[in-house]
Amino acid sequence: MPITPNPYKTTGFLGWIDDRFPLTKLWKDHLSEYYAPKNFNFWYFFGSLALLVLVNQLLTGIFLTMNYKPAADAAFDSVQYIMRDVPWGWLLRYMHAAGASAFFIVVYLHMFRGILYGSHRKPRELIWIFGTLIFLCLMAEAFCGYVLPWGNMSYWGAEVIISLFGTIPYVGHALQVWIQGDFAPADATLNRLFSLHVIALPFVLVALVVLHLMALHEVGSNNPDGIEIKKKKDPATGIPLDGIPFHPYYTVKDLVGVGVFLILFSAVIFFAPTGANLVLEKPNFIPADPQVTPPEITPAWYFGVFYAMLRAVPAFLHTQIWGVLVMFGAVVILFFLPWLDRSPVKSIRYKGALFKTLVVLFALDFVLLNYLGMQPVNPTRTLIARFGTIYYYFFFLAMPWYSRLDKTKPEPERVTS
Ligand code: HEM
Repeated sequence: MPITPNPYKTTGFLGWIDDRFPLTKLWKDHLSEYYAPKNFNFWYFFGSLALLVLVNQLLTGIFLTMNYKPAADAAFDSVQYIMRDVPWGWLLRYMHAAGASAFFIVVYLHMFRGILYGSHRKPRELIWIFGTLIFLCLMAEAFCGYVLPWGNMSYWGAEVIISLFGTIPYVGHALQVWIQGDFAPADATLNRLFSLHVIALPFVLVALVVLHLMALHEVGSNNPDGIEIKKKKDPATGIPLDGIPFHPYYTVKDLVGVGVFLILFSAVIFFAPTGANLVLEKPNFIPADPQVTPPEITPAWYFGVFYAMLRAVPAFLHTQIWGVLVMFGAVVILFFLPWLDRSPVKSIRYKGALFKTLVVLFALDFVLLNYLGMQPVNPTRTLIARFGTIYYYFFFLAMPWYSRLDKTKPEPERVTS
C-alpha cells in the first residue's frame, strides 16, 4: 500500500497505476475535466489537425528513413527504390510529401484563426510565441526534407537557400562554405540536412508542441467571442458556466474534422499524388545536376510568400542582404503581434470595419504574394510583390495605430451561440 493513496479512489490495475503515476489525473486535467468554451467553430479544427499531420509525418518518416540512403550518389535511387520496390513504399512517400503540404495549409489556417479571434492576446502570448517558434522550426524541417530526394530542384533549392547565409557581410561566404561542408551543395551537405531532418528538428518540433499545449492548458482556450470563460464560474462547482468538458464533446467534434481532412488527403494521395506539381515538382523527377540549373528555381509552394519578398527587394550597395532581412523580418514580426494589437476587444466579431477591411486585405495579400513567389520574375510581378510586401509590413507595424482607432462593439458577458 502506498504512503498516500491516490485521490481518485481507482481500484484494480488502474488503481495500481494511479498509486504510482498520475494517469487518471492527467486524463481528468487535460481531457474529461478540461473545460473548453462551448462555442468552438470550424476554425478550431486546425489545432487537432496539425497534431494529426505531425503524427503522420513522424510515422511515415520513420519508415521512409529505413529505406532511404543519405548519400549524394545513392539518395535519388533510394527514393526510386522506395517508390517501386519497397512494399507500400509509394504510399509512405506520397503520405509524407502530401503531409508536408497539408501541414502548411493547416498551420496557416490555424495561425489566421489566431489573428481573427485575438488568440495571441493576453494571457495567451506564450502560446503564440511557442507557435511562431514551431512555424520557424517547421520551415527549417520542410526545407531539409525537400533536399533529401536529391532531385534537381532539391539541389538548386539547397543552393539558393544556403547562399542566403552568403549575403551576410564579411563572414557570409565562409559561413556558407562551413554550413555546406563544401564549395557547393554536396554529399556533406546532404548528410547534415538529413540528420537535422530526421533527428534534431523533429525533436525540437515535438518539444515545442508540448510547450505550446502546456501553455494552452495553463490559461485555457480562447474562443470566437474572444472572452474569458474563466471569469464566469458556477459558484458551487467552480466550473466555467460557458465551458464543456473537452472529452467527449470536442474529441467527437474534432473527429468530424479528421474525417473531412482524411477524405481530402486521400483524394490527393490516390488521385493526384503530385498535387498538380505543387506537392512533387517536375524538376525533382530528374537527379541533381550541378551543371544544369532548372529554367526557374522556385521553392515549394508554402514558401511562396517569403520567396516573393526576397525577390522583391532590390540589391542596394551591392548586397542582397536587404531581401534576406525583409524575408526573415516577415516571420520575426509575428513574435511581436501580441503587443502590436491594442484593440480593446479580441475577436473580429466585435471589431470595426477598419480592422475587418485590413484583415481581409491581409489575407488576399498573403495569397497574392504566395502566387507571385511561385511565378517566374518579370518587372510587373516584381512591382506588385513590392506593394504586397509593403502591405504585409503595414498590416503589422501600423496595428498599434489602427487597432486603437477602429470603432469596436462591446463584448458580451457570456459566449454567444
Ligand atoms: C505543429 C504545429 C502546431 C500544432 C500541433 C498546434 C496545436 C495546437 C492545438 C491542439 C491547439 C488547441 C486547439 C485549437 O485551439 O485549435 C492550439 C492552439 C493554439 N495555437 Fe497552435 N499548433 C501548432 C502551431 C501553431 C502556430 C504556428 C501558431 C502561431 C504562430 C499557433 C498558435 C496557437 C494559438 C494562439 C492557440 C490558442 C488558440 C485559442 O485558444 O483560440 N499554433 N495549437
